[in-house]
Amino acid sequence: MITYVDAETKSRRTSGVIPLHGEAGFAGMRKAGRLTAEALDLLVAAVQPGVSTAALDRLAYEFAQDHGAIPATLFYKGYRHSICTSINHVVCHGIPEERPLREGDVVNIDLTLIVDGWYGDSSRMYPVGEISRKAERLIDVTYQSLEAGIAAARPGRTTGDIGAAIQALAEAERTSVVRDFVGHGVGQLFHDEPNIMHFGVSGTGVPLKPGMIFTIEPMINLGRPHVKILADGWTAVTRDRTLSAQAEHSIGITETGVEIFTLSPRGLFNPLDARR
Ligand code: MF3
Ligand code: CO
Ligand code: CO
Repeated sequence: MITYVDAETKSRRTSGVIPLHGEAGFAGMRKAGRLTAEALDLLVAAVQPGVSTAALDRLAYEFAQDHGAIPATLFYKGYRHSICTSINHVVCHGIPEERPLREGDVVNIDLTLIVDGWYGDSSRMYPVGEISRKAERLIDVTYQSLEAGIAAARPGRTTGDIGAAIQALAEAERTSVVRDFVGHGVGQLFHDEPNIMHFGVSGTGVPLKPGMIFTIEPMINLGRPHVKILADGWTAVTRDRTLSAQAEHSIGITETGVEIFTLSPRGLFNPLDARR
């Protein structure tokens, strides 16, 4: 059985029910999502050959400090950084390090800023200098799959409709969808109900209702979908070492469709667009 509950009355701990947020929640997410997007915009110019992901992490931390926000990943389950930086065959949860980025790398930067208690969660792909044609294609497919997932989200549809739309697009382009990580409810908790799978069957899963707030964050591989976790306990990589890409928005279900909270104010959500 699926239970929904008014977010205002819900205990702040995950309890197997799906919170439905009102105007206060949407206002809170708008502010947190926008600040996260501004930080991800700022990083576009900063990602260059020779720059380390640790330096990008420091930039994100300073941005948060300067704007009265807290990076949600800092000290989250023992994680010690403000962003995740997932380079090339790293699928997600890559840890910032001092090693410089190299021309041709592609890096996902995932940032969640907490503003007034609300969590804005988003990630994008950043090209480092000139990148290969196949990397460009994978990045485009990944953004298209996220768009397809968002387009499938509205009242009366289900979480399975979102997954099915993402999977159909990705597999039609001969890429694969990672199964091991999912989107998630977000709001005054980092990871809430429901899970949003990026694959699946239309009409299955949880019915979407106005007031639901969650992320969609497909991870798409050029090769096979399987991942493994490195010895650091965080870094997820493709088992076949093929390239992986991810893009993430935080969205809310409205009466008629969706509101995207983490849109780029400068139109840089796919930094590749800015180059074309
Ligand atoms: N921001 C990630 C997400 O999209 C979660 C990162 S948790 C961390 O859900 F600890 F790995 F940083
Ligand atoms: Co997320
Ligand atoms: Co994220």
